[in-house]
Amino acid sequence: RLLQGAQFVLAAHRVNQLPADLGAEVAFAGRSNAGKSSALNALTGHKGLARTSKTPGRTQQMVAFALPPLVQGEGEPPLAARLIDLPGYGYAKVPEELRAHWKQEIDAYLHRRQSLRGVVLIADIRHPLKEFDRMMLDFCFATGLPCHLLLTKADKLSRNQAAQALAAMRKSFPDGLHATAQVFSSSAGTGVDEARERVAELLRT
Ligand code: GTP
Ligand code: MG
Repeated sequence: RLLQGAQFVLAAHRVNQLPADLGAEVAFAGRSNAGKSSALNALTGHKGLARTSKTPGRTQQMVAFALPPLVQGEGEPPLAARLIDLPGYGYAKVPEELRAHWKQEIDAYLHRRQSLRGVVLIADIRHPLKEFDRMMLDFCFATGLPCHLLLTKADKLSRNQAAQALAAMRKSFPDGLHATAQVFSSSAGTGVDEARERVAELLRT
């Protein structure tokens, strides 16, 4: 039941258009076409929630989804909870101006958003991390923001190859990085329960 009942709230072109910065939210980040929107749909158990596409650069907004409010201790009001689908980064065909815009807005989002509890970084398990992924990990390392890395599209590898890729990835993390990583596949459902638990945990920190 974790992360069920998510609903689309709005799509924002700027950070200040996002829902009020209250409660707790987790952002889904990654390169264009990595599988962010698909992961979001898999985790919420809602296929058509976030729009996915074969064409990279599909998500060109920050899209906010509301989760049912988190019940807290007795006498405390329930806490608003959200998931944010960030625009894909690093797609060459997106005009330079738009790329610069999103670089600035993602940066502003990460630095200013008080309700941000953690980042789910989504990367294709078949490829080494790219510049954007490294920047995101560096940012989390520098600020102490928790990060959970989903090595997705694991259905494209054997189980053994996937385990090896995960082990190599963990080894490459610098000491002191607040990051966890796992094998994931939106299409095969691999690692969905583990990821749900991790995201729910982030929302509660
Ligand atoms: P942008 O919004 O363009 O940045 O892309 P995104 O990161 O949201 O990726 P999206 O979820 O739209 O998926 C991109 C493509 O990868 C689509 O064709 C998906 O069907 C495919 N895809 C996503 N996840 C998986 C997966 O786990 N396995 C496989 N085989 N394909 C996947
Ligand atoms: Mg997308």
